[in-house]
Amino acid sequence: MEFKELVKTRRSCRSFETSDVSEEQISSILDAGQWAPSPLNLQPWEYVIVTDKKIQGQIIKAAEDAKQTVIDSDGPGWVNKYGMNFLDEAPVYIVVVFDPSKGGLGGFFSQPHGALQAVSACVQNMMLAAADLGLGSLWFTFFAPDKVKTILDIPEKLEIAGVIPIGKHREEIKAPPRKEPKVHKERYTR
Ligand SMILES: Cc1cc2nc3c(=O)[nH]c(=O)nc-3n(C[C@H](O)[C@H](O)[C@H](O)COP(=O)(O)O)c2cc1C
Repeated sequence: MEFKELVKTRRSCRSFETSDVSEEQISSILDAGQWAPSPLNLQPWEYVIVTDKKIQGQIIKAAEDAKQTVIDSDGPGWVNKYGMNFLDEAPVYIVVVFDPSKGGLGGFFSQPHGALQAVSACVQNMMLAAADLGLGSLWFTFFAPDKVKTILDIPEKLEIAGVIPIGKHREEIKAPPRKEPKVHKERYTR
């Protein structure tokens, strides 16, 4: 797909067909992730591929618990209506983890988020690659990370950038509107 079309075609997908995603498609998505930029080319990310329905179920439970926590804490009302059936539908999750200590030199001059910035570029590359393959994906973070780390046996020093469910999307998704770019010329104007 042509880039301009691709970048606008990718949508956060919240309804999937349960049909499988092939190993080849997963490899191609991971390969796109590998080509993301990172400070000192440290590539601070790793992936946990989850297709086991029992393990996925544990992650879904962690997501439902997080939703309940928000509801019990008088969080925004829309959360009550936020359904998470898509987590059950998606055949595969790519859980993207990263090492926050691999942020390059930024730590020396108040830029501590290099690894997070890099893994974010990695996730975006993968979601664009999925869209290019005609697949839907979602950057999902609605869970307590420690719970998901325990479920997946992720080492203490790593952080979770997101759980990315991937599959064939079930229905057309309306694009949420975009703001006009806020641009300042030469200097930031207030
Ligand atoms: C870091 C990050 C975390 C997100 N977490 C969630 C999430 O937990 N659940 C969800 O449904 N969408 C999540 N989203 C998706 C956003 O809601 C979505 O990107 C936004 O509404 C714009 O829609 P679009 O991706 O279709 O352009 C997340 C996006 C980002 C970048």
